[in-house]
Amino acid sequence: MKYFIHTYGCQMNIHDSEKIAGVLESLGYTATSARDSADIVVFNTCCIRETAEQKIYGHIGELKKIKRNKPDMIVVVCGCMSQQDGALDKIKESYPFVDIILGTSNLNMLRDAVVAAQQKKRLYNVDFINYCEEDFYQARTSFPNAWVNINYGCNNFCTYCIVPYVRGRERSRPLKNILNEVKSLLEEGYKEITLLGQNVNSYGHDLQNGETFALLLNEIGQLNYKFRLRFMTSHPKDLSKEVIDVVAKYPNICNNIHLPVQSGSTEILRRMNRRYTRENYLDLIKMIRAKIPDAGITTDIMVGFPGETEQDFLDTLDLVRQAKYSSAFCFIYSRRKGTPAYSMENQITYAVKRDRITRLLACQNEVTKEISQTMIGQRYEVLVEGPNTHYVNTMCGRTESGRLVNFKCDESMIGQFVTVEIELAKSATLWGKIILGD
Ligand code: SAH
Ligand code: SF4
Ligand code: F3S
Repeated sequence: MKYFIHTYGCQMNIHDSEKIAGVLESLGYTATSARDSADIVVFNTCCIRETAEQKIYGHIGELKKIKRNKPDMIVVVCGCMSQQDGALDKIKESYPFVDIILGTSNLNMLRDAVVAAQQKKRLYNVDFINYCEEDFYQARTSFPNAWVNINYGCNNFCTYCIVPYVRGRERSRPLKNILNEVKSLLEEGYKEITLLGQNVNSYGHDLQNGETFALLLNEIGQLNYKFRLRFMTSHPKDLSKEVIDVVAKYPNICNNIHLPVQSGSTEILRRMNRRYTRENYLDLIKMIRAKIPDAGITTDIMVGFPGETEQDFLDTLDLVRQAKYSSAFCFIYSRRKGTPAYSMENQITYAVKRDRITRLLACQNEVTKEISQTMIGQRYEVLVEGPNTHYVNTMCGRTESGRLVNFKCDESMIGQFVTVEIELAKSATLWGKIILGD
């Protein structure tokens, strides 16, 4: 019996898919890359933007004909999209061939649901249970990296964002459990650990036992293995001096901070409910650069939030130049039903959004190019992460600061740390050669 999982959205979902794969493997299924001949097809969905959602509905629809010829195929829809208000009814009505629909906090029901579906019984459950998933066997797929959840959900309610509605309130895992998971992964040979949370900096607030993100980093930083620790995402309003100090202190903790700014205009930030100003944010960047001079700072930026004026947008461009991000994920604001921004006045036209995203991408490109130029001829430690599938015998990996580098070497090197000298910079991607005996 074979399974195929479509994974959409963020790292959180990539990691949830590893848990889903673990459940399916424990039931005797093995992975296949041929979706249409699989015995079970899972859609682990995302609804952060409308385009993501439309694409997923399209992909689910593709299975209608296939399932008609293959009635025993089990189709599962889970993840953020199915947790939205009204999604359950919509899926049941428009895609009646779907056997299992589960919300983001019902993955623990997957096993029973699959067993029931094998007997042709359907199971739909999107009731929200605010619990922490702790006891999953995980079929990990991203060696040498391993994802580790530290907190689930989000309490911030940025006015544009659907995540708090589909992932629920913030729940932190006990520090001891996280530490044990990290230790056993390092024992198994993983070389990079990425801690996951919508807002890692508020880790522990709900535990009220003194456990904080800085304390967690401090514990992991002391582990005596050759490995890298990364984390995402940092909300600027909660990134503390203590956290920056711990990152600076331990060589195991990467000097790479993903710090989504969203907008460079204080007025837009206020209406987004981000709870920091442009000045607070730039001060934070200054503090990071002072304590961690070689830090790679990355960000998420949105254009076309309701009411965004040309001046607001110019403020964003100016902030991008000042912050000197090594890269930025840039998005066009997408109206999400159920969020406060959905009903705000002065929604921006698509033409204006398109124009702004083009200019934003060009601006960030310039910044990235400038940074890349300074890296040529320099040597960096790189973890060999996996093949670059466009070229033969070419692997890629990242510098500690998070920059992607391509270089020649064979697959047997995956999971090893090498020294790479940068030879060529093509905007976001760097090319280099391994320096032996270093
Ligand atoms: N918790 C993280 C972000 C998770 S969503 C944080 O606070 O930074 C990832 C990114 O998607 C966000 O940073 C934002 O830039 C973008 N995003 C979220 N909602 C969006 C929407 N409605 N339209 C467009 N982009 C959105
Ligand atoms: Fe969404 Fe804001 Fe929470 Fe991030 S912090 S998940 S953008 S509500
Ligand atoms: Fe992630 Fe998309 Fe959900 S970005 S948290 S999978 S809505």
